[in-house]
Amino acid sequence: MLGSGQLSSRGTAYLCLLTAIGSLFTPALAVKENDFKKCHQSGFCKRNRAYADHVVAQGSSWRSPYKILSEEASFKDGKLQADILKTIDEQGATVRLPITVSFLKSGTARVTVDEERRKEKNIELRHNSLARKERYNEAEKWAIVGGLEIDTDAKVSYDGNSGINIQYGPDFKFEADIRYYPFSIEFKREGTPQIKLNDRGLLNVEHWRPKVEEPVPEKKEGEDSEEGKNGEVEAAEVTPSEDQSTWWEEKFGGNTDSKPRGPESVALDISFFGYEYVYGIPEHAGPMSLKETRGGEGNYNEPYRLYNADVFEYILDSPMTLYGAIPFMQAQRKDSTVGVFWLNGAETWIDITKDKESKNPLALGRGARTNTHTHWISEAGVLDVFVFLGPTPRDVTKNYAELTGTTAMPQEFSLGYHQCRWNYVSDDDVKEVDRKFDKYHIPYDVIWLDIEYMDDRKYFTWDPDMFKDPISMGQQLDSHGRKLVTIIDPHIKNTGNYYVSDQLKSKGLAVKNKEGKDFDGWCWPGSSHWIDAFNPAAVDWWKSLFKYDSFKGTMENTFIWNDMNEPSVFNGPEVTMPKDNLHYGNWEHRDVHNINGLTFQNATYEALLSRKDGELRRPFVLTRSFFSGSQRVGAMWTGDNQASWEHLAAAIPMILAQGVSGYPFSGADVGGFFGNPEFDLQSRWYQAGAFYPFFRGHAHIDARRREPYLLAEPHRSIATAALRLRYSLLPAWYTAFYHANQDNSPILRPMYWTHPSEESGFGIDDQFFVDTTGLLVKPVVEKDRTTADIYIPDDEVYYDYFTYDKLPTNKGKRLTVQAPLETIPVLMRGGHIIPRRDIPRRSSQLMKYDDYTLVVAVSRDGKAEGELYVDDGDTFEYQNGQYIHRIFKLEGSSLTSTDAEGRDVKSIEEGEWLRRMGDVAVDKVIIVGAPPSWASKAEVELETEGEKTLVKLDYHKAKGGKAAYAVLGRVGAKIAADWTVNFV
Ligand code: GLC
Repeated sequence: MLGSGQLSSRGTAYLCLLTAIGSLFTPALAVKENDFKKCHQSGFCKRNRAYADHVVAQGSSWRSPYKILSEEASFKDGKLQADILKTIDEQGATVRLPITVSFLKSGTARVTVDEERRKEKNIELRHNSLARKERYNEAEKWAIVGGLEIDTDAKVSYDGNSGINIQYGPDFKFEADIRYYPFSIEFKREGTPQIKLNDRGLLNVEHWRPKVEEPVPEKKEGEDSEEGKNGEVEAAEVTPSEDQSTWWEEKFGGNTDSKPRGPESVALDISFFGYEYVYGIPEHAGPMSLKETRGGEGNYNEPYRLYNADVFEYILDSPMTLYGAIPFMQAQRKDSTVGVFWLNGAETWIDITKDKESKNPLALGRGARTNTHTHWISEAGVLDVFVFLGPTPRDVTKNYAELTGTTAMPQEFSLGYHQCRWNYVSDDDVKEVDRKFDKYHIPYDVIWLDIEYMDDRKYFTWDPDMFKDPISMGQQLDSHGRKLVTIIDPHIKNTGNYYVSDQLKSKGLAVKNKEGKDFDGWCWPGSSHWIDAFNPAAVDWWKSLFKYDSFKGTMENTFIWNDMNEPSVFNGPEVTMPKDNLHYGNWEHRDVHNINGLTFQNATYEALLSRKDGELRRPFVLTRSFFSGSQRVGAMWTGDNQASWEHLAAAIPMILAQGVSGYPFSGADVGGFFGNPEFDLQSRWYQAGAFYPFFRGHAHIDARRREPYLLAEPHRSIATAALRLRYSLLPAWYTAFYHANQDNSPILRPMYWTHPSEESGFGIDDQFFVDTTGLLVKPVVEKDRTTADIYIPDDEVYYDYFTYDKLPTNKGKRLTVQAPLETIPVLMRGGHIIPRRDIPRRSSQLMKYDDYTLVVAVSRDGKAEGELYVDDGDTFEYQNGQYIHRIFKLEGSSLTSTDAEGRDVKSIEEGEWLRRMGDVAVDKVIIVGAPPSWASKAEVELETEGEKTLVKLDYHKAKGGKAAYAVLGRVGAKIAADWTVNFV
């Protein structure tokens, strides 16, 4: 399926390694799927799935070995503290698992389960391991930045010895019903059950045990069940007999994991009652609405996996793991959204099944409902789960963001177009590409350098022959407000005479192997060490490397790309680090694997913040690997996709999934990384990419050059038009990022998120609204397709963005629009006002002080509302009030602009940017769906800053399918000032 060119450089790298390290590699380069574990190859996943099967097979006779000790349970100050006793053998021996259930002020509940013996470090490690004895409990240090205040008002009502009931949340509408035996917690909202933990009894905490050195007889297939001869469960049974073959050691792909602590997984089932749809848990290449994973038609056979990995040539429609992990899931039913956040940094698998409850005959046809059951399985760490009870998608998003933070205010340029390839070969090459964009009048903001710019793949150096003069390159870019992004990965070439490597080693800041020596593995530079960005001292050191006088050749317009931070280790198990490697604090890599990418991006973010004393500018760092919280430190992209129509289509649900999972600053390689896109595909990809929050063209080293100016007509004009559309809408994009910064709401919003009452839209993941703009976009992602069927979620009026056609829509139905190659299906929902800047320029910086255009899409009832947020797009001065935030409203016969926060901008001491913005005006207003009563007007009155002036109005009558529209020209109302246009 893949051309040989597509294997190429990564392939070449592998092949070089093959030669270099002999037999470590199997040569099956094309079938990458098999390089990664399936559940049955991952000991703890297999055991927990078998446990689940066993429990299900036992039916009602199953007795969970987990029980809360009622005598010792105490509820105080918003927290239940107790011990779960796990019965571990037939004699009734138990282990204690301390459990805390806390109720947070935000209305979120948190359940944490640890293991007493591990807490007390009262275990022995095998192989003289240096690893920590506790269960990893520091995921929260990385993921959580707030929202943990306890709600001491939570009310408790005891229910004898069998459990307790807590009322909490807004107006005490939430309830947690905690049962002691069998242990379970049911969460209700206004009396209705929503979510239940351990509903099916799959809770499983693999406790520490010493290794009994006798050989364990191998189990044969089918011997897993403990059923007695007559098929009945033996009375003494406490846990299903287990497959012990991977308790103490685990092999995969020629690597052996020494597992010094033995089996230690945590697993729990979480049921969502009446919820048919679940979303989230990125990163996977599949539909946004998650599929069932236990087989059956159209379902997966494998659980969704979260184990950050460098899966190049990834397959589509698969639960296979990709580069990043966000263990946050939302469930949706009509008018209700709930969610859970499984805070764990270790390898995690999630099984999903759905059952349809049969109709209640007494409910007269109502009552048939689908429940979704999930089974969360992590290899190590404490069990830590947050429960969100909604009831809206916005509430769940907000609650998750209160914990993990919101999207950083971006560098404004980063919302423009990024031009990347592996590689621009020299500083002259970069300059030439830069000139070509100008020659063809194509806007772009950033050009990128991939791994070939360095001297011998040594980060923080330049190739002395090809990049002789990086400063003059940076200066040329700067002359048009453009930026440079260079790649810096976490692997540091292990070689002499290289100060970065020398310092890493001498300061002891590298990730260690299980013996405590600097771990050595293979990546782009060959033999390498990895910075351990979990270590605060490593972060400090990393900061020192980015200072302008240290990383010479970089300037203020240089920003950073962090790749391979899963981390990718070419000769490691599953292309990553051995799990028994050690990080700062002697945590095993196993404990923290999925958090690793975040720590590295965080280190680079910190480093960019401190490049120069007194210079405080927003960093821009792109990452490939991520975890909950990564939204605070930069953007992500979906890795090594392919130049195919299928990958173009797959990117949309992936980006939507990122958005609803709290990481909206995301995009996919435009054009597709591997392979050469045909021109139609490339054009369509620019049209789709113009609506990615992160918009970057990128290509593999073996792919042909494909900068948009190289396209033949009409494709060049098509791509250029898409890019210009992006640039004209930058004010709306920036406002969208402002919203994401406030509450982390998704930038691209799927139908369920905007219309949670419309069940017919819950499964739709190929179209989206852009923030609150009312722009409804459905990129064309199929070859030769010239129409688009757009799902219409409501009764509002919709206009074509480009033609102003008023569309014959029907709520809940699809509308077919014409979409020949040069057209992007974009609708405007009535009731919104969209801010734009219409003068085409070379880069976003050159548009900074341009006047605005407002596009008003009038609703059915004659109204519209919109918002603009703008600041200097670069510094943190917005935190000192240096921003403009307006609300525009069309109501009755007037259009107004007022301060969104009721501030008097005049009272703000103006910095340079705000002062210059004082001259920036709304130049033009286009009112689509303008009422016929305006037809006779040639002028309207503008009232602003104590003066009244007349503004010219051009009225265009409704014609054919086109809505009537009016254009106000030369408005001249200042963007920072209050103003009113009267249409009477
Ligand atoms: C990885 C990245 C890709 C990059 C390449 C070389 O494959 O995903 O974007 O071009 O490495 O750095």
